[in-house]
Amino acid sequence: MASSESGDRALEALLQENRRFAPSEEFRAQANVRDPEIYQRARQDPEGYWAEQARRLSWFEPFREVLRWEPPHAQWFVGGKLNAAYNCVDRHAESDRRNKAAIIWEGEPGDQRILTYGQLQREVARCANGLKRLGVKAGDRVTIYMGMIPELPIAMLACARIGAVHSVVFGGFSAEALRDRINDAQAEVVLTADGGWRRGQVVPLKAQVDKALEGASSVRHVVVVRRVGEAASVNWRAGRDLDWQEWLASESWHCEPEPMDSEAPLFILYTSGTTGKPKGIVHTTAGYLTGVETTTRMVFDLKDRDVYWCTADIGWVTGHSYVIYGPLANGATTLMYEGTPDFPDRGRNWQLVEKYGVNIYYTAPTAIRAHMRWGTEWPERYDLSSLRLLGSVGEPINPEAWMWYWEHIGGRRTPIVDTWWQTETGAIMISPLPGLTEAKPGSATRPLPGIEAEVVDLAGNPVPPGAGGYLVLTRPWPSMLRTIWGDDKRYQETYWSRFPGRYFTGDGAKRDEDGYFWLLGRVDDVINVSGHRIGTMEVESALVDHPSVAEAAVIGRHDPLKGQAIAAFVTLKEAVDTSEALKQELKAHVVQKIGAIARPDDLFFAAELPKTRSGKIMRRLLRDIAEGRALGDTTTLADPAVVERLKAQYQEEA
Ligand code: PRX
Repeated sequence: MASSESGDRALEALLQENRRFAPSEEFRAQANVRDPEIYQRARQDPEGYWAEQARRLSWFEPFREVLRWEPPHAQWFVGGKLNAAYNCVDRHAESDRRNKAAIIWEGEPGDQRILTYGQLQREVARCANGLKRLGVKAGDRVTIYMGMIPELPIAMLACARIGAVHSVVFGGFSAEALRDRINDAQAEVVLTADGGWRRGQVVPLKAQVDKALEGASSVRHVVVVRRVGEAASVNWRAGRDLDWQEWLASESWHCEPEPMDSEAPLFILYTSGTTGKPKGIVHTTAGYLTGVETTTRMVFDLKDRDVYWCTADIGWVTGHSYVIYGPLANGATTLMYEGTPDFPDRGRNWQLVEKYGVNIYYTAPTAIRAHMRWGTEWPERYDLSSLRLLGSVGEPINPEAWMWYWEHIGGRRTPIVDTWWQTETGAIMISPLPGLTEAKPGSATRPLPGIEAEVVDLAGNPVPPGAGGYLVLTRPWPSMLRTIWGDDKRYQETYWSRFPGRYFTGDGAKRDEDGYFWLLGRVDDVINVSGHRIGTMEVESALVDHPSVAEAAVIGRHDPLKGQAIAAFVTLKEAVDTSEALKQELKAHVVQKIGAIARPDDLFFAAELPKTRSGKIMRRLLRDIAEGRALGDTTTLADPAVVERLKAQYQEEA
């Protein structure tokens, strides 16, 4: 396994971890899932179990068949018709929840907006009518590039209402990354904002869209929300660009939801893989909604009276599933915050918890470690007693961070759910059920009911307890990705060819004697920086795109705060001299090509890169160098002296 050495060391420490945390009697007594038999029932009859969950949704036409599985293609709830926006909005707006807050939004400057289910229904309908007027039909793709403002979920749900497929692109991606995603999806409409607020500064979103659309483009219209007003200078292309307010001013507040097939695509979300080109992960309507409705209800123990806050940006899958679709499918109140946790000061998140009386809080280990570093004085200033459940997602959580979270945020009172899943899985796969599971800090515990996972060796055989291996999912599940947009071959190869019939996650894991899973990080060329997935090849392609660069190798090295940091080893073209200025220029080039999340933390000029005799760069050795370890096996190298020299040079410069 690629990351086995650092993984092993971390795991040794983890497996020493024998603290256990059972839910309190009080929590257990009120939990949504109290009966441990649920695991057994789901195992005996997975299709019956999932059908039961799916029937909690509102259907225009019931499904006739639960699962049609022609590996590696699955169809769930075949023959059914439903609408995702109807399930997330209308059915609540038409109930006693009509005047319940669906979305509580706070902007970074402190402005607020609360949308009840009734209001959300009308906003979504009006936006859907606007899209129709632009000629958007069921199956068409709409790219959404916005910050965390209410118009973002309104736009997503408006697409869902008319059967259009949304492709949300995280507002931190560069114009070039946005262009690739627009082109890949062949979107005809882009919904964006003039800008967004981030640490008191404006992120110029519309300007990036303009750049992304330079040259030929499939896009006919760009609709712009005025979020920052005067603070951003916005160019206007007559005939193409529309002002959101004006666009919708004369639209009706009513729009019938389109009955969609269970398997109609709901959205595309791009994520990084092992090649330079991001993959458009396709999720479909009924299976995805069933997955997120079920997991939000069970894992977060959602109650009607709760205020629930997932801090993720909607541009990532966590935001899709657990800021919007999962909570709203449950008729819950979801909090959405525009800005960063350190603006105007490092107490902002806790101030919001106190202000809105947040009951359930879901964030990433990297954020928890940042709060740890900032000190307990920030959470101590606020009343956090409303919290009753905490969650973690995006990367393995180290036991130290788990304990800090439990003690200083949860007041030693709240269960913590460490949830393992991926863009591809759509919904949480491995996690405690908070009223049932005894947690061990650092373990995501067990697969949820209806989910089957295994740890296997290279040959696909299950490994014994305590041994490391590859994490696979052995049964199809409703919210699984259906394909990669426009590249079904890649779908089959990436996920289903390594262990035929089983889904390959790309993660390493171990299972302990109790059957608990311990995640060890990626085993492929994907880096996890602050819970964000970045492909090493993407960063390498961005670097070699620069005229001075001959070759580049990128690896993830351990970082105490971010989980992993990006280290780049670069060889320059002949006649180009190394300099600090060039280093900065190359880092900036990556930001321009991909976005700030991909900016290399370390950039290192190498005379040569260590290669095998067949010319393959040995990234494993580069990782050893960057993490200050003894070099692993170098016998397959064409010239072992190269790596020794590189190591000496790195130690000198680092
Ligand atoms: O390596 C795993 C890690 O994040 C990857 C998925 O990234 P992405 O598709 O961006 O989705 C992130 C949010 C679901 C996984 O392959 N990962 C996610 N959650 C955990 C995790 N690793 C360990 N523990 C987790 N709880």
